[in-house]
Parts: sequence; C-alpha cells; structure tokens
Amino acid sequence: MKNKKRILTGDRPSGRLHLGHFVGSLKNRVKLQDEYEQFVLIADVQALTDNFEDPEKVSESVRGLVLDYYAAGIDPDKTTIVVQSRIPEIAELTIFYLNLVSLNRVLRNPTVRDEIKQKGFGDNIPAGFAVYPVSQAADITAFGANLVPVGNDQLPMIEQTREIVKKFNNLYGETLVEPKALLGEFPRLVGLDGKAKMSKSLNNGIFLSDSAEEVERKIKGMYTDPKRLRATDPGTVEGNPVFIYHDAFNDNKEEVESLKARYREGKVGDVEVKERLAVAINDLLKPMRKRRLELENDSKRIEKILRDGVDRGREVVSEVMQKVRKAMKIDYTF
Ligand code: TRP
Repeated sequence: MKNKKRILTGDRPSGRLHLGHFVGSLKNRVKLQDEYEQFVLIADVQALTDNFEDPEKVSESVRGLVLDYYAAGIDPDKTTIVVQSRIPEIAELTIFYLNLVSLNRVLRNPTVRDEIKQKGFGDNIPAGFAVYPVSQAADITAFGANLVPVGNDQLPMIEQTREIVKKFNNLYGETLVEPKALLGEFPRLVGLDGKAKMSKSLNNGIFLSDSAEEVERKIKGMYTDPKRLRATDPGTVEGNPVFIYHDAFNDNKEEVESLKARYREGKVGDVEVKERLAVAINDLLKPMRKRRLELENDSKRIEKILRDGVDRGREVVSEVMQKVRKAMKIDYTF
C-alpha cells in the first residue's frame, strides 16, 4: 500500500523541461511515485501570468510537457497529471487566500522580485503575476499535499504557502495541510554559460528533448575554467560547470575522480573532459528519447492521460474545497 502522504508539484507550460528541472525536482518525482499518491500540475493558468499576450505558447506547450514527463519516467498510472485550468476551484481558492496576504508580503517574495526584474515589467507589474505565489499556495493546498519536490527557486513559494495555511487554520479552524519542500540533489543547477542557473528563458540549458548532436554541440561550447589556456595548465575543478555536470550526470564516479585529478595536474584537455560528459548525458537521455517516441505520435493516449488526470484531480480537490467552504461559513445549503 502507498504511504498516505500526498505529493504535488507543477511546471508552467511555457517551454520544454531541461536538466536543471531533472536534478532539481523531476528525479524525486520519478522516485517517489511508487511510494506516495502524487499529482503533477501543468500550471497553464500560472504560465499565463507572464505569457498573457501569447496564449498559444501556453496551450501548445501542454502536450510537450506531458511528453517530457513521460520521457523522464513519470508513469501516468502512478502519477496523476492535472491541467490547472480544468480545476476552477484553484482560482476560487486563490481569491479566498488573497485576503490573507498583504501586497507588501507578495512583493517581498525573492523569486517574484527576480522574475519581475528579468522580465522588465518596470512600473507595470501585472497584478496577476505579482500574486502568482498565492495561486501556487492554492495549487498545493487544494490537493492537500504534504510534500512538494522542488528546486531552490521555489522555496519562497512553499514558505508563503505555509504562512497562508497557518493563517487560514488560525482564523477558520484546522482545515488545511501544511506542506514541506523536498529539495533535489542539485537544487540549483548552473547553466551552460556558467553564469546563472539553468533556465529556459536564458537559453543556457540542455533540454530533455535535445538530440544527441545538440547535446554534443552545447557541451562543446560550455564555459569551463577561464584561466586555463592550455591542456598542460593546472585547472580548477571547483565551481567549474563541466565538473558540476560530471558530478550531477556521470554515474561512472571513478572516471569523474580520475578526470578531476588529471585536470588539476594539467594532464587532460577540456576536449576530453567535455567528450566524456556528452557521453554521460546522452546515456541518461537515450532511454528518455525512446520513451518519448512511444507516446509522441499517440494523440489519443495523450488525451486520455489528460482527461483521466483531470477527473481524478477534481475528486480530490472537491473534497478539500468542501472543508474550506465549511470552515469559511460559505457552505450554504440553498
Ligand atoms: N512555479 C513553478 C515553476 O515556475 C510551477 C508551479 C506551479 C508549481 N504550481 C506549482 C511548483 C505547485 C510546485 C507546486 O516552475
């Protein structure tokens, strides 16, 4: 029997998933789906908060996200994949929660602040974007989730969710579950450029759907130790993105240790280190490419996964919502 605890995570459908997602959260989801009841939310409503001018980008990415999940090993028989917009109660719950959060608190969320800067909203921050962490609190609590597997950037969202839950339960009585974050092994993976975290908007990532040739090309162009000019110069391993990736993706630990030792002594060139890395990453992605192919041309099956997911999602959420409405004294009987 499965553990009674529930897991919920989600992703915005506004692009493809990359290796940062994989080691930050996806790997945990694949591991935990046998043990827990797990929901994965395709957060299309949240994706619209920063893509409202480009709604096709969001709707067209939904299918791609299902393929990424399936490729990564998320099994739709074990994990319920739910499209957010099809659960309107999440929007209802968001409105209730907005009473429990101050505008200042929302704008203090460090991830939201970073994104506002990055997207260049200036003085025109869409209100819906600023409050998306509140709708994320609704995502998590509507499913009664205990655990949320995430990368570092999502920790402020879980923190804000816990605050909302505490406030709600204090005001209206013990109703909501207080969730905990579960960080991945590499909760903040550096991008190929070595500068920022891997991110779809910065175009510094390796996607789960990249071909073997794309992976090789991207790794060839990776940033390494800038102070090292020749293969015979001693190099720095610490903080070097190529070695961070070796640690994250190369299962052959002996090879990794020997490459590190030779690099430090100036006895191996960047070319060889990168070639070994490309092999390791392609070994990881190879079975994913195979699984993707299984589903890619089967639109009927994709539709069924989405339909079944929404059905199951509705059941769970409607139970929680009954409790919420009762606690808030709006469970009218007329
Ligand atoms: N904010 C998350 C992201 O940008 C996506 C998300 C939406 C999410 N709802 C969630 C993550 C609920 C965890 C739990 O990647």
